[in-house]
Amino acid sequence: MRRMVAETRLQPADLILPAFVREGITEPVPIAAMPGVVQHTRDTLRKAAVEALEAGVSGIMLFGVPEDAKKDAAGTAGTDPEGILQVAIRDVKAEVGDDLVIMSDLCLDEYTDHGHCGVLDGDGRVDNDATLERYAEMAQVQADAGVHVVGPSGMMDGQVGVVRDALDTIGKEDVSILAYTAKYSSAFYGPFREAVGSSLQGDRKTYQQDPANLRESMRELALDLEEGADMVMVKPAGPYLDVLAKVAESVDVPVAAYQISGEYAMVEAAAEKGWIDRDRAIFETLTGIRRAGAQMILTYWATEVGQKLSAGRR
Ligand code: PBG
Repeated sequence: MRRMVAETRLQPADLILPAFVREGITEPVPIAAMPGVVQHTRDTLRKAAVEALEAGVSGIMLFGVPEDAKKDAAGTAGTDPEGILQVAIRDVKAEVGDDLVIMSDLCLDEYTDHGHCGVLDGDGRVDNDATLERYAEMAQVQADAGVHVVGPSGMMDGQVGVVRDALDTIGKEDVSILAYTAKYSSAFYGPFREAVGSSLQGDRKTYQQDPANLRESMRELALDLEEGADMVMVKPAGPYLDVLAKVAESVDVPVAAYQISGEYAMVEAAAEKGWIDRDRAIFETLTGIRRAGAQMILTYWATEVGQKLSAGRR
């Protein structure tokens, strides 16, 4: 009876798998703070994409991890057509074609030696407008590599509009933009730093949002839509379900939520200690995010949950 009258359902197609691919490795490297998640080799990434597809997952969000020596102040590897992310997009595309939606993180922090999402001005602050020029170039190389959706995640003002123009200029009108609309400056990104080998100097408070603010997200939402966002996202997910609910009731574009590294790590750590029921906790967090209004959820559990849903275990 509960199953029959359930108001919220979770399906494999609701899920998007974020995945890391690291340059220059021959074996996958486990991420200690995210048990079960690895930095992929080019080869294991292709396999992970196939596995996700077979589990019914609808998309994969790719993050590139360049060799340390290739990180610099401008994040040059992010716009190199032979940079790891661009190579990985082509690899995944060759493997799964258009059956899986291929998405890419459009941000500089994986490629900068200072770990910020943009380039810095003379005072060491992120320079918004100079960063936008880098993002425009990134969007173009990612689109050239064959990505279906770009995800500008740096929270620079005007990023969606600049990326839209850059894509249209090179005839990539059909590449969509998943806007990180409401992205909060969060402690829960912690494990991600290890995942992308980033040693951030300082914090992101000059460009990411204050957890105390909700109305600010509605302003970000209006701007992103005006600039041409095709889909919008709230991130992190769990601590911001009210923001998600409000965004979802205010728009008619698809709404996504990103269950981030720290949300994953918390459940895995508590489960490892035997303090919570891992499976139930995972499904409860995802159901909560769906109930709050996300149509799509980026989660590191995507493939596993997709498999379990397909097997009828939930
Ligand atoms: C920026 C980016 C971050 C995440 C996704 N894109 C890091 C940040 O903004 O600090 C975090 C994802 C996660 O924690 O799982 N490139």
